[in-house]
Amino acid sequence: MSVDIRDLAGRPVIIGGGIAGLTTALHLAPEPVLLLSRPPLGADASSAWAQGGLAASLGEDDDPALHLADTLAAGDGLCDAQAARHILYGAPAAIEDLARLGVRFDRTPAGVLRLGLEAAHSRRRIVHAGGDGSGREVMRALVAAVRSTPTIEVIEGVEARRLLVEDGRVTGVLASCSTGPAFLATGRVVLATGGIGGLFLDSTNPMGSCGQGLALAARAGAVLADLEFIQFHPTALDGPRRPMPLISEAVRGEGAALVDETGRRFLDGVRGAELAPRDIVARAVWKHLADGHRVFLDVRERPGAAFAQHFPTIASACSKVGIDPARDLIPIRPAQHYHMGGVAVDLGGRTSVPGLWACGEVASTGLHGANRLASNSLTEAVVCARWVAESLTGTPARRTKPAIASDCPSPDPTTVRPLLSRALGVLRDGEPLKAAARALLPLAERKDAASDPAAVGLMIAVAALRRQESRGAHHRTDFPLHAAVARRSQIALESAIAAAREFASSPMLESVA
Ligand code: SIN
Repeated sequence: MSVDIRDLAGRPVIIGGGIAGLTTALHLAPEPVLLLSRPPLGADASSAWAQGGLAASLGEDDDPALHLADTLAAGDGLCDAQAARHILYGAPAAIEDLARLGVRFDRTPAGVLRLGLEAAHSRRRIVHAGGDGSGREVMRALVAAVRSTPTIEVIEGVEARRLLVEDGRVTGVLASCSTGPAFLATGRVVLATGGIGGLFLDSTNPMGSCGQGLALAARAGAVLADLEFIQFHPTALDGPRRPMPLISEAVRGEGAALVDETGRRFLDGVRGAELAPRDIVARAVWKHLADGHRVFLDVRERPGAAFAQHFPTIASACSKVGIDPARDLIPIRPAQHYHMGGVAVDLGGRTSVPGLWACGEVASTGLHGANRLASNSLTEAVVCARWVAESLTGTPARRTKPAIASDCPSPDPTTVRPLLSRALGVLRDGEPLKAAARALLPLAERKDAASDPAAVGLMIAVAALRRQESRGAHHRTDFPLHAAVARRSQIALESAIAAAREFASSPMLESVA
């Protein structure tokens, strides 16, 4: 690292170098900004792994109102309709912004954007790049733009460990650098740290995405929303590789079928079949596996011979384990994929703690509700990054005092993974959730490498216990029905710890909501 980050005190700090963080930094220019990234920019960010693309109503037969209706239907009654409307109406312009920045989207020979179909979309509206390499291409263009913007100082190899808060406002970031701990005085911080897949044994996310942004926000006193809603992708490639390679929903959008070992299309009786909302397909696959079947994607007829050309990343993942999709069935099963919940934010990305913003998967705007519509997340990150930057620019910088830099351990989710995987999978039930909360509580209260992942897991487990209904991706076998009224949930670390203490001391107290 050639720059001493202490010399950059006072600048807004963006934590995270995925699509949300990079786009926010670009929108802030020419305001000088510091962007902290743990891995080298572009490496190990789940954004770069996105196959699906960006959803936007760009087709002649489409309209933002239709995109909104599909999003609200998939969200199963829990979306914030106002937030969803704002974001989705901004989607077509965000695609144009990215194209202007140099993103090479897939186009027809006539130069028109090619629009793909994914589950629960009533129109073709997914913009891709490089077939199934959309995230990689968007990241390439954004990293190049950031690297050539002189007011953006990127520092790699830095991990934010704590946010300092005084009188209820953010005053700085405690970070771990290659030279040791450092304190960055700043009154304006944006969390863009991505998701929580690293907290699960089976996920399609990079293992390093283990909820660090949620831990930073929660320990700073921020309110978090809808944490119990975790999306499982129905079709991860079943095999020994971790993280699990994703088989994009776009493959089903091009006609691939889900079959079992007998060749039966077991989703035949489900409305929408292979293209039903993701939570419904994931549950159906999960149950079929639990009944002792094996489940496969059959791409031999459709998309057929064009498969490897349309989906080169997936074809290569299959070939590494000896599967030729043109000839063989592809074994699949559900894996953790996306977190609908996150740090509660308004449309300017403001959290409940002054001086703290959040953008991308770590944030909860209310767009996704109980089940995210495919390919709405990169769209959300790009649209909201502009509003976060506008809100931050409109917030005057405050002088903050320097503080002593001290070290906090780097988060290690190894002990937490089996606990969350057991209790917070596709199907949940009160007893395993209580057991997880009891096991996570002492880990969360320690001050070691497990404590931040455990604190995040504990908040999710308590939120899942409190939601005594099944809705979208949160399915309780002991409460299989919808509640009469859909309510978004909120939680703070202190209240989660208090609730878990009650579960720990009295196994009968599930109703501490
Ligand atoms: C996929 O390509 O199936 C994933 C798209 C998404 O998660 O939005």
